[in-house]
Amino acid sequence: MTLDSSFTFPNSPTTFFPINSVVETTKGSWSFEREISNGKNPVWEATESSRNASSNSSERSFAIRITSLSKATASQQVNQINQTALIYLFCERKGIEGVLRLKGLSSAYSPDGRSEIYEVFPRHEEIHTNMSFEEKRSFLNSLAKTIYNLHENDIVHWDIKPSNILVTNQKTPCLSDFECSWMSKGKATDHAPQKIPTTVEELEEFGCNPPDKSEGDLRYRAPRPRGENESPKARDCFAFGATAYEILSGISLYEDAKKEILELEGKEIKNPFGYLVNLNQKILFQLVNDRFSEYPLAADLLTNLLSLDESQWMTMEEVIKHPFFQYTGCQSF
Ligand SMILES: Nc1ncnc2c1ncn2[C@@H]1O[C@H](COP(=O)(O)OP(=O)(O)OP(=O)(O)O)[C@@H](O)[C@H]1O
Ligand SMILES: [Mg+2]
Repeated sequence: MTLDSSFTFPNSPTTFFPINSVVETTKGSWSFEREISNGKNPVWEATESSRNASSNSSERSFAIRITSLSKATASQQVNQINQTALIYLFCERKGIEGVLRLKGLSSAYSPDGRSEIYEVFPRHEEIHTNMSFEEKRSFLNSLAKTIYNLHENDIVHWDIKPSNILVTNQKTPCLSDFECSWMSKGKATDHAPQKIPTTVEELEEFGCNPPDKSEGDLRYRAPRPRGENESPKARDCFAFGATAYEILSGISLYEDAKKEILELEGKEIKNPFGYLVNLNQKILFQLVNDRFSEYPLAADLLTNLLSLDESQWMTMEEVIKHPFFQYTGCQSF
């Protein structure tokens, strides 16, 4: 196997190699402290102790997200992970703020899989509940700017939801989990680039196809009949609306809609598809107006984002200009 070590992630404990090759840890030893999430892909907090030549030892913590590869689809999965890595790298090189920084890729900790190594963040749920309304407003303003900047660069995230937004110690958002995202700027190719793009110019030529499994979390997608798709950027706008609803009110739109539909129609929704079929615009706007009766600007913003008619949706540019975010206490990053 030929390993091309021409590219190293900045500050990376590992080296990133082209598609279908192996990434080795180059220094340090790791201890896995605790499992942060046992979702689809387990995420561990790991501490690296490294010793340099002068024998000073230092410790750094990372979040390690492990993807198991299934034999049948391993090469597509690896391709997907590497495409995602390039999107992270593009964001970093372009200086797009509010996006998680990928520190490296590794195969050292899961023989049948790949691990992505990130900086580690405090748990988001606890932080959201401790934020004041104004802090949440400012938080959402920064998040909206990040999504706007991604869209300006023809990147769609496609899985925006509270659990994919980490929170820094300064209470600013950090968007993570780009597994469903894609970049349509450059020329999409199914093959590994011969040379890994590293400069902004090279990265701008890079494009990828939408991932095969690009559903994202259906609870944060616009209710619509199966098979009918919204335009790529618009999907993020609805999901931002559902995320803002949840962060500001503390209750998810999906849970609220479930209760409302049960009360009004006696129908119990067991899965997100039921939610898609049963929700109507009147119920949705009623929920927004009830939850945000004391916050008319928030209600106006959410009504514009959570319309069931895509042609009514605001773009992220309109969102960041909305009066809800023109409040002076709203600071960005
Ligand atoms: N860098 C990180 N620092 C701290 N916690 C993290 C980090 N990355 C992920 N997590 C935690 O792990 C959870 C799951 O991570 P991630 O979204 O990457 O995996 P997932 O399998 O796609 O999960 P989901 O289906 O919920 O989106 C996050 O919701 C968060 O709580
Ligand atoms: Mg996730």
